[in-house]
Amino acid sequence: PADSMPPKPSALTFTLLARCSTTKARASLLTLPHGDVKLPIFMPVATQASLKGLTPKQLGDTGCGLCLNNTYHLGLKPGQKVLDAVGGAHKLQGWKGNILTDSGGFQMVSLLHLATVTEAGVEFLSPHDKSPMLLTPEHSISLQNSIGSDIIMQLDDVIATTSPDHARIKEATDRSVRWLDRCIAAHKKPESQNLFCIIQGGLDLELRKQCCIDMVARDTPGIAIGGLTGKPRYVMGVGYPEDLVVSVALGADMFDCVWPTRTARFGNAVTDFGVLNLRHASFAEDFRPVEEGCECKICSPSESGGLGVTRAFVYHTAAKETVGAHLLSMHNVFYQLGLMKRIRQAILEDRYPELLKAYFRKLYAGEK
Ligand code: GUN
Ligand code: ZN
Repeated sequence: PADSMPPKPSALTFTLLARCSTTKARASLLTLPHGDVKLPIFMPVATQASLKGLTPKQLGDTGCGLCLNNTYHLGLKPGQKVLDAVGGAHKLQGWKGNILTDSGGFQMVSLLHLATVTEAGVEFLSPHDKSPMLLTPEHSISLQNSIGSDIIMQLDDVIATTSPDHARIKEATDRSVRWLDRCIAAHKKPESQNLFCIIQGGLDLELRKQCCIDMVARDTPGIAIGGLTGKPRYVMGVGYPEDLVVSVALGADMFDCVWPTRTARFGNAVTDFGVLNLRHASFAEDFRPVEEGCECKICSPSESGGLGVTRAFVYHTAAKETVGAHLLSMHNVFYQLGLMKRIRQAILEDRYPELLKAYFRKLYAGEK
């Protein structure tokens, strides 16, 4: 029985503060080794120990207290030896906030089409010299222990949600549970790093339920997708604003996505009225801020300490200079974090359904 078991080591506390009375939305506080974070949260992705286009200081200025790094990329460069020598990824990048790392398998399967999965792990060809490499659950955890991230993810067997092969979906789901056990056994720092399981099962509700039961029984400090009260629920790789507001209504607490920074590099600004492509000639003489009323450093006028950047400036720099992408990255990350703040406040005041309605009305019927 659960109450006679010794408590499992964990490096977080999760406190539920408020629940929406009509949807499953909830507001909570998550304490982590590098500071407290308020949930629901959007976590920007700093793939190579740096958010593309932003310094760690600029990332902190957006209000971010928890970002992602990528185990696969850091394992290749600078590599485990350098990570151990410098004392982990926080020191490497000069970041005082929290870091979450994915286990690396998903990135290999989605980036390298040559990756194959066996019971041992994920096999792939080195992007450097094409030599065969194997990422095992043990190796992924060892790398994440060297990175020192505050939240680490299990290695899972991820297949396309569109796969029609039921036997393969079941195999991937059951294997993910077996790999979770290997990750738990390999984890050397449970008192300073929180291991999350990842519920799999494709689009098969029964498989998802069974996977949930099997993984929840392992009692990890957090749960990606699915989950229970008393633990943060993390929806991986989700990042469009519409998906954030709806997923929160369904009970999700944590999100990550490269989209806000990637789309910035294509000249796109995320706003309450939808995405504006500032490379479009119609912005050549638009001297309004990127988003009117936005309080980020980019949009705020210089009188109040901002940069007072106009749409026209971004338009005119977008073609040749990288500065437009830097500015939009900052605005977009600030937008996503600001949206989560508004969501959280609405849950605390029990007016989340009103926020949902107002959000979609402005997005689909508002004037740009
Ligand atoms: N990123 C987005 N989806 C997933 C997933 O299912 N597993 C892992 N490890 N990373 C993800
Ligand atoms: Zn802005």
